[in-house]
Amino acid sequence: MKPVTKMGAVVLVLFTIGAFISPVKSLDNGLALKPTMGWLHWERFMCNVDCDTDPNNCISENLYIQMADVMVTEGWKEAGYEYVCIDDCWPSHQRDAKGRLQADPKRFPRGIKKLADYVHSKGLKLGIYADLGTFTCGGFPGSMGYYDIDAQTFADWGVDLLKFDGCYMKWTLLGEGYTNMSIALNQTGRSILYSCEWPLYEWPHHQPDYAAIRKACNHWRNFADVYDSWDSVKTILDWTADHQDVIVPAAGPGGWNDPDMLVIGNFGLSHAQQESQMALWAIMASPLLMSNDLRDICPRSKQLLQNTRIIAISQDPLGRQGYRTAKVDSFEVWERHLSGGRLALAVMNKQEIGGPRGFPLTLATLPSWKICHPQCNVTQVLPSYKELGVQTLLSKLVVVVNPSGTALLTVTPI
Ligand code: GLA
Repeated sequence: MKPVTKMGAVVLVLFTIGAFISPVKSLDNGLALKPTMGWLHWERFMCNVDCDTDPNNCISENLYIQMADVMVTEGWKEAGYEYVCIDDCWPSHQRDAKGRLQADPKRFPRGIKKLADYVHSKGLKLGIYADLGTFTCGGFPGSMGYYDIDAQTFADWGVDLLKFDGCYMKWTLLGEGYTNMSIALNQTGRSILYSCEWPLYEWPHHQPDYAAIRKACNHWRNFADVYDSWDSVKTILDWTADHQDVIVPAAGPGGWNDPDMLVIGNFGLSHAQQESQMALWAIMASPLLMSNDLRDICPRSKQLLQNTRIIAISQDPLGRQGYRTAKVDSFEVWERHLSGGRLALAVMNKQEIGGPRGFPLTLATLPSWKICHPQCNVTQVLPSYKELGVQTLLSKLVVVVNPSGTALLTVTPI
């Protein structure tokens, strides 16, 4: 086993410095003190508006009613998943006589207010989608020129979260637009969690101002849309690690980097890859917004998404985002500092040939292993729960990691 690569060492030094810089001020709306948990329709259901031929899967009030029902009866709410979120393609193509957005009357015959009431009656919250430009990405009416009216409409309906997209907008006006909508939402007096895509649309032009973004938004997408594939998940992880010195210090209670939805329970990821997405999204303190069909999900995926030990890492009250600390021998090591001086460790096996491989936990592979001096307690959370007991710097602990899978551990100093 080779020691930590030179690059790994550099990354480690950068992050030891970054760890002591206190996060910039967050949006002061008292929301998202922990990464948001819920369900969002986009990746799985996209812009399916054909309720005549596909009534079960089209974007209609029934989809959210059914998801809300299942979230309560199948343990999702109890596990912490709270927001039921509508993405693009919900509105009518015309605003009403007062210039307000309205839901497509055929697909949402009772309107969004009634839907919000229903979702609230289940003890859940409702999210909606709009766009700061002239159109949404799917070609529905944008909010440009209507920020105050739209914010007030969403508040009147009882909406609890707004995902605000950035299509059809001049990139130089993104900052102004996202900030103005943040102010408009605040002025309604209703608590509305504000999910932005501001940096995603700025990166092609320049490095975004994360202090400004954190002041306006509760989370923000940085990178491309997630697809139901391992390639997509890997690309998101690579982008995140490559930009971690810029984006990780911005995260903390009230504001989070958003690497996009969990696609666990769909078609494209093997079980080991689903474990990797879940483990790494917890390490990255990412919103846990599932995009899958909760009415029909395989029991193993469900168990993974409801795993209380992984959710506890995601929701750790310290609210520090983890980061990649080493790349060695086709493994990646990611670490997240947890409350109580504990550490979460994810070891991902990037070798996509062969079988499970062992990764030794030693000071050479893992400088933060020093928390095991004089002793620590190690719990393996993935791929299976195992108490690995008391360890020291001299222990010869080896974790076995499946190809494209991840071993997730917590380490508690004694
Ligand atoms: C953009 C966003 C996606 C989704 C679609 C909807 O691509 O990044 O998450 O909201 O728009 O059209």
